[in-house]
Amino acid sequence: MADATLAKSFLNAGEDYDRFRPGFPEEAADAVVPTPVATALDLGAGTGKFTERLIGRASHVVAVEPSQQMLAVLRAKLPDVEAHIGTAESIPASDQSVDVVTVAQAFHWFDREPACAEIRRVLVPGGTLGLLWNRADPQCSWDRACSRIAHPWLSDEMPVSNAAQDELRGFTMATHREVPWQERITRADYVARWLTVSSFMAASDAERERMVGEVERILDTDPATAGRDELDLPQITDLYVYRAD
Ligand SMILES: C[S@@+](CC[C@H](N)C(=O)[O-])C[C@H]1O[C@@H](n2cnc3c(N)ncnc32)[C@H](O)[C@@H]1O
Repeated sequence: MADATLAKSFLNAGEDYDRFRPGFPEEAADAVVPTPVATALDLGAGTGKFTERLIGRASHVVAVEPSQQMLAVLRAKLPDVEAHIGTAESIPASDQSVDVVTVAQAFHWFDREPACAEIRRVLVPGGTLGLLWNRADPQCSWDRACSRIAHPWLSDEMPVSNAAQDELRGFTMATHREVPWQERITRADYVARWLTVSSFMAASDAERERMVGEVERILDTDPATAGRDELDLPQITDLYVYRAD
């Protein structure tokens, strides 16, 4: 199971998370939901950064998220989405009622066995499970160095999305793709983004200050970022598409 302290760090996140975190490319949503479906459910939906990509791809979009603060932002932003407080281990949806379940940047927080059983329960037979993660592009030395401050236990060879590569009980993997994309971000927003990452949020004030200082030092010294107010940030969205057996 994921570290409970880190997972709970999102309980008090919300507006900053929505403002500073990256979204997801259309191409990733196209790969998970290539043709329109009746019902799609975004699990661990946060403030709706991937949920909004489901609008137009499903007639009925449902968001499930344990944090009141995150869900309040989602409800204000996406009033047509049916939003529920809930968890992956106890999904507030009836049996075989959903065509597609998506999980963006959240599957590694779930208690995998009960979560997979719940996802399998709410999906129609043959339904789709899409798991997505944004991660640093390994070619981008400064972003990779900053990622190591947040996730010192991860190596380039083993990003967090590797959580998905095991077999999932009740599912067969249909696709694994890496979608490269790029965004332009101000240096100030890039630094603020790190403050919405669980390990920064869960750190003591002194430790957080040290971590932010490290990020600033990297940006001051890397030739691609030194002296720049705006940064071109390449990213990769890893996506895994499974079918319910
Ligand atoms: C990194 S955020 C991702 C939010 C959103 N999907 C996105 O891509 O911006 C992880 C989310 O997973 C949620 N979460 C943590 N544990 C969960 C669980 N057991 N079931 C459902 N969601 C959970 C957190 O509250 C948080 O909103």
